[in-house]
Amino acid sequence: MECRINRSRPKKEINFMKTRKSTSFFFFEVEGPHSIHWVEQGEKQLMLSSTVICCYGPKQAINASAEEQRFPMFRTGSQPVTRILVTHDTTILPDVDLIVSMKDGKIDEMGSYNELLDKKGSFASFVEEHSTQKTTEESEVENEILSISRLNSRDSAKSELGDQLLLNAEKCADDEVEEKYRLTDDERMEIGGVRRFIYLNYVKKMGISLFVGSAIGFIAFVSFEAGGNIWLSKWSSDAAKNATSNSSQTIWRLSIYGTFGLAQVITTILGNFFLVLGVARASERYHRFMLDSVLKSPMSFFDTTPVGRIINRFTTDMEILDNQLYYQLEGWLNCIFSAVASFVIIGMNVPIFLACLLPLGLLYYLVLKLHLNTFRQIRRLETTGHSPIYSLFMEAIQGVSSISAYGVKKDFIQAFEEKLDRCFVCTFNNNVCNRWLNFCLNSIGSFVVFVTTALAIQNRETLSPAVVGLIISYSLSVTDALKWFVRRNSELENKSISIERIEEYCNLKPEAPWDLCNQKLTNDWPQNGIIRFEDYSTRYRENLDLVLKEINLSIEASEKASSLFNTAFCVGIIGRTGAGKSSITLSLFRIIEPVSGTISIDDIDITKIGLHNLRTKLTIIPQDPVLFTGTLRINLDPNNEYSDDQIWESLEKSYLKTFVSNLSQGLEYDIEEGGANLSAGQRQLVCLARALLKNSKILVLDEATASVDMETDSLIQNTIRTAFADRTVITIAHRLNTVLDYDKIVVLENGNIIEVGNPSNLLENQNSRFYLMNKEAGLI
Ligand SMILES: Nc1ncnc2c1ncn2[C@@H]1O[C@H](COP(=O)(O)OP(=O)(O)OP(=O)(O)O)[C@@H](O)[C@H]1O
Ligand SMILES: [Mg+2]
Repeated sequence: MECRINRSRPKKEINFMKTRKSTSFFFFEVEGPHSIHWVEQGEKQLMLSSTVICCYGPKQAINASAEEQRFPMFRTGSQPVTRILVTHDTTILPDVDLIVSMKDGKIDEMGSYNELLDKKGSFASFVEEHSTQKTTEESEVENEILSISRLNSRDSAKSELGDQLLLNAEKCADDEVEEKYRLTDDERMEIGGVRRFIYLNYVKKMGISLFVGSAIGFIAFVSFEAGGNIWLSKWSSDAAKNATSNSSQTIWRLSIYGTFGLAQVITTILGNFFLVLGVARASERYHRFMLDSVLKSPMSFFDTTPVGRIINRFTTDMEILDNQLYYQLEGWLNCIFSAVASFVIIGMNVPIFLACLLPLGLLYYLVLKLHLNTFRQIRRLETTGHSPIYSLFMEAIQGVSSISAYGVKKDFIQAFEEKLDRCFVCTFNNNVCNRWLNFCLNSIGSFVVFVTTALAIQNRETLSPAVVGLIISYSLSVTDALKWFVRRNSELENKSISIERIEEYCNLKPEAPWDLCNQKLTNDWPQNGIIRFEDYSTRYRENLDLVLKEINLSIEASEKASSLFNTAFCVGIIGRTGAGKSSITLSLFRIIEPVSGTISIDDIDITKIGLHNLRTKLTIIPQDPVLFTGTLRINLDPNNEYSDDQIWESLEKSYLKTFVSNLSQGLEYDIEEGGANLSAGQRQLVCLARALLKNSKILVLDEATASVDMETDSLIQNTIRTAFADRTVITIAHRLNTVLDYDKIVVLENGNIIEVGNPSNLLENQNSRFYLMNKEAGLI
């Protein structure tokens, strides 16, 4: 959630300090009732209320040293504030005033650190089991802290003007950076008329035969309707001439007229049937193509596209294609053929009327053109205006607890109303445009009726009363038809903007091909799990800085000392927050593509393999565990490939068996959206169980056990080593003790590998970064 500072509060109350932007580390100090809060990229669960700070698991996603540096700041403050820290980490516990140890949903022990140690209860044994980690002083963090404290000391002497200048300077610098690294562009909006190929594509998606069939149906309907009318006028004029009529003639004429009526019914049913079928088919195809295209888009698309935009296309625009476009097309086809029929009949009876048609058509065309230029663009603004509303709505739903905790409900409501207002301005103008069009069309229509009636009066000597009636009735209907034709045209173009928007998302730039037919991979590839990075560089998007810079790394199971391969070959990747650890895993899966260099697995360059082939052979437990709504079983085995016994075995290995067997529904336990009814640690364990089931040759764990308590973590590490025997395991970890007994350690800093080697070799060199980190963490 975006942090907001209430600008209306007296400036003196706000000391705003922002440190290095690249690490996304922000530090806010707000004196007064809102105390201190800070936000870190890895700390999504941070909560704040006016007098209490709850900080959930702050250490899970940041390195030990940075955390240690920040904790004293968290502790100190000018106001008496209660701070609640929820953590697995024992490092900072000696500094807190009261410790509440929880077990099975109950308070197990409570007291100060020393009191609890003296008690020699479960807390004491927990602390004993896990060595504490001390402060690591990394130069960059030092600089951060120094700059913070410098700012802090300056704060007291700072004048209001000084505050303002500082804020302004920061804002200017931010604006420049923001412009360069702007994440999302404004939503693309076409200008000018909807291009012809959009209509053509729509007709193709309907199926040309269905479109032609429905057009023929409508033409036939209009022809029979006109035929019936002509027949009726002929009948009445004959009756007037002969002044007599016999019943057999009446029956005959009635039957012909009835036949016309019946033909109209049949043709209108057929025309509409084909049209409904075509529209439904086009909708289904557009939805399928758009979904396919969005799902196959690269990660950069999702990084730069707010979710509201995607939802807008799948809801508002699709709804128009599903429900509204049919009525527009039906009305348009009806109108165009009715107008043509009217002109033909009037032209046959009063050819002079055709002379009026040219200026009349021109006039209608002008009105339509004038109207459409404005109407179209307003409509585009209106549709794009929905996206920020959806985005904000999603954001608010996801962050509802944070919004309540920060007390920014009003801000959100206000922001929501502003976005709604912006959208409604377009809706209002849309209606104004429609009114204007109506006024113009009605005026022209009245003029046409006037001209027709005047012509009929002028030719009253030569025209029979029936023909005069027919002409006047047609002039009325022709103006009506023209009016509707213009309106339908405008509406059709208006609604076609949704086709245009959906077409755009159907043609997104896709990821690399999922399958490459020329690639001859054996089913058991990769047999050895050898991974090599050669001069590998990558970035998240064009124009952004490189996040991995010319990396050279070789991960070879054959290096392993225990040649029998009875345990996994484990590689630990460590480094401070933002060093590029997760980026390495994303590169392996080709979620981000190389800028230069290669990654090969078992000597096959992974860019030469189809994405699907590559990704099915690797398993990852990501930093953010992902669970889906459905049963636990579906989450563990989405493709229904494994037996219950195998699933229970994997649950046992991931230490979830007791939890699941205590659930009344067992494997059928319903998981809520995003796994909301499981704890963060349990979610990670479910992901681990899923990975154990898949048992692929290469397993990547990105902070996979960060939310799990340390005891279970070390048990899991053992499980992984044995369950993934003969396989390669790449683990990203902040808890150094988890990777101490690994086969290889890679230390990353700022996208570069600064150290790589066997942990015992690295520890021999007392100047190595790994040695220093371990020493300062109290592990050696
Ligand atoms: N989706 C993204 N778009 C642009 N830049 C990104 C994206 N994800 C990460 N980065 C940047 O790439 C760099 C490396 O990020 P990465 O996630 O690999 O760090 P990390 O070492 O895994 O950190 P952590 O320990 O916090 O998980 C960071 O500077 C980060 O800002
Ligand atoms: Mg990461």
